Amino acid sequence: MKKTIRDIDVKGKRVLVRCDFNVPLDADGKITDDTRIKAAMPTIRYLLEQGAKVITMSHLGRPKGEAKPEFSLAPVAKRLSEIAEVPVVFVDSPVVVDDQVRAAADALEPGQLMLLQNVRYRKEEEKNDPGFSKELASLGDIFVQEAFGTAHRAHASTAGIAAYLPAVSGFLIEKEVRYLGRAVNDPERPFIAVLGGSKVSDKIKLIRNLLDKVDVLLVGGGMAFTFYKAMGLEIGKSILDEENVQLAGELLEMADEKGVPLMLPVDVVCASEFSNDAETVTVARDHIPADMMGLDIGPITCEEYRKIIHSASTVIWNGPMGVFEMPKFAVGTRRIAESIAQCHGTTVIGGGDSASAVKKFGLEGHMTHISTGGGASLEFLEGDELPGISIIEEK
Ligand code: 3PG
Repeated sequence: MKKTIRDIDVKGKRVLVRCDFNVPLDADGKITDDTRIKAAMPTIRYLLEQGAKVITMSHLGRPKGEAKPEFSLAPVAKRLSEIAEVPVVFVDSPVVVDDQVRAAADALEPGQLMLLQNVRYRKEEEKNDPGFSKELASLGDIFVQEAFGTAHRAHASTAGIAAYLPAVSGFLIEKEVRYLGRAVNDPERPFIAVLGGSKVSDKIKLIRNLLDKVDVLLVGGGMAFTFYKAMGLEIGKSILDEENVQLAGELLEMADEKGVPLMLPVDVVCASEFSNDAETVTVARDHIPADMMGLDIGPITCEEYRKIIHSASTVIWNGPMGVFEMPKFAVGTRRIAESIAQCHGTTVIGGGDSASAVKKFGLEGHMTHISTGGGASLEFLEGDELPGISIIEEK
């Protein structure tokens, strides 16, 4: 078991909290989704209430080691202050840690909150440079890992820093590890995984890992066409992960050997072009017209998958069923999201596109857990130990 902030005394201490405040911004620099800021609030509030001096830090986007203003955390400081209902000390330093920042950190009183500038303004961050880890560590007495979304990155502020400070987890990390971990390691059965997305190559490791754990694997999205190809079906102009056709065939064989049903859509919504205005037809999977492309799963598949999801005690979902960004091809993803929302078992949504889809359809409140990590939740479900989690001390 990992140590958490409950296991240590933080009163009067300078507590450095690595959050994932990598939030989407619009063209005017306004935050369009503050889920990740809100997700860190239980930890931040707890630490403030315990009388800690709280110094949060994060990356935003990929400024590649340069202090580019469009990647400034200033909008996050503002939103954080609104949500936390306390002022946030924010020093806009191009080097993240300098004398002014050190002075501001030293001047913090118990119960006060600070945010550092984007740690990726420094090229040393992504290199996991010990010098930069040390600089950051010099600002605090304790390190709290709360950045689940970045826990798959071994960077100076997510991993290296633990060499210089005691490292414990925040409540978000605890929650993510509990739900994702329990789903894959100790699920209540039947355990169903729903996997989508466009490329088989992105999901090979995940499928391999899950085939040893799930009772049924439901596949949708663009990657289904690579499986069809491996089965000898014609896929017209549908997306094909050409290099991985053989591998898709091997995964089908592997599922067969293990006796795990790996189900593929039985019908497909096809369009003449990749456009929401295109003419569409819904056909059986062995009747995809040569001049059309499949962009969504069909109604028979939705109903088949709904019944299976309904019977599940645990469901994990990673990847959309079709091109859900276009309304015409969002029906399959919506139906699957609704089926998962109606399931009485534990429902865990991997971050990234599936989390966006659930939010788009207004179903957030109906899921047991929606991960704040895209790449991180994928790597976690693949069975990897994430560097940002392995550095947290054991109890
Ligand atoms: C994410 O949004 O997945 C995390 O914040 C990690 O960002 P990165 O892929 O730029 O490391």
